[in-house]
Amino acid sequence: MARDGRPWTLRPARPTDARALASLFADVRREGRWLVTPASAVSQPSEAFYIGEMIRDSSSLVLVAEADGEVVGNVLVSVEHSVVSDHVGTLSICVADGWREVGIGSALVEAATVWAAQCGLAKVALGVFPDNDRAIAVYERAGFEREGLRRRQYRVPGGEYRDELLMAWFPDEGAPE
Ligand SMILES: CC(C)(COP(=O)(O)OP(=O)(O)OC[C@H]1O[C@@H](n2cnc3c(N)ncnc32)[C@H](O)[C@@H]1OP(=O)(O)O)[C@@H](O)C(=O)NCCC(=O)NCCS
Repeated sequence: MARDGRPWTLRPARPTDARALASLFADVRREGRWLVTPASAVSQPSEAFYIGEMIRDSSSLVLVAEADGEVVGNVLVSVEHSVVSDHVGTLSICVADGWREVGIGSALVEAATVWAAQCGLAKVALGVFPDNDRAIAVYERAGFEREGLRRRQYRVPGGEYRDELLMAWFPDEGAPE
């Protein structure tokens, strides 16, 4: 149940969710504030194909938040394939506009950390724009710590450079008090 009383459910993604997830990502990209890659630079069918592959890949986590039969949120954890970094998962998350700040993002991050701990991952990493205070608040509450700042890591449409804050959670260090 969302904090405002609307019902929603959390479940593993199915291959048939891939197009709805690509559409959600496109909507969030079009907002132009939260994600690095602009909607114009991503082909929705290609993204749907890639997401479908992730859903079928048992080493990745793809969860969806569903409400009224629609996908309204998602968390992904993609595990590195290299033998020297296959203990690391990279988390990304988005919740549809209209469904934010009712607890869905926090529930998605918590489910992802439970999964990561069960899988035996040693680190869950992510990158976030340093001014995305809401996302950072959610990550810090889940126990993620700030690892560093990659200055001018991205150049966004319009030519502006953006820094990337790196954050990570270490399952064997547990959840915050
Ligand atoms: C970031 C995001 C995933 C968080 O999910 P959510 O469902 O909105 O988050 P929740 O409702 O679980 O929690 C949000 C918390 O942030 C807090 N918050 C909101 N704005 C804030 C701000 N400017 N500064 C600090 N905290 C803030 C809220 O008060 C809430 O905390 P509370 O539960 O103690 O009240 C979601 O807002 C989203 O998808 N945003 C757009 C895409 C995005 O930013 N993705 C992450 C890219 S790295």
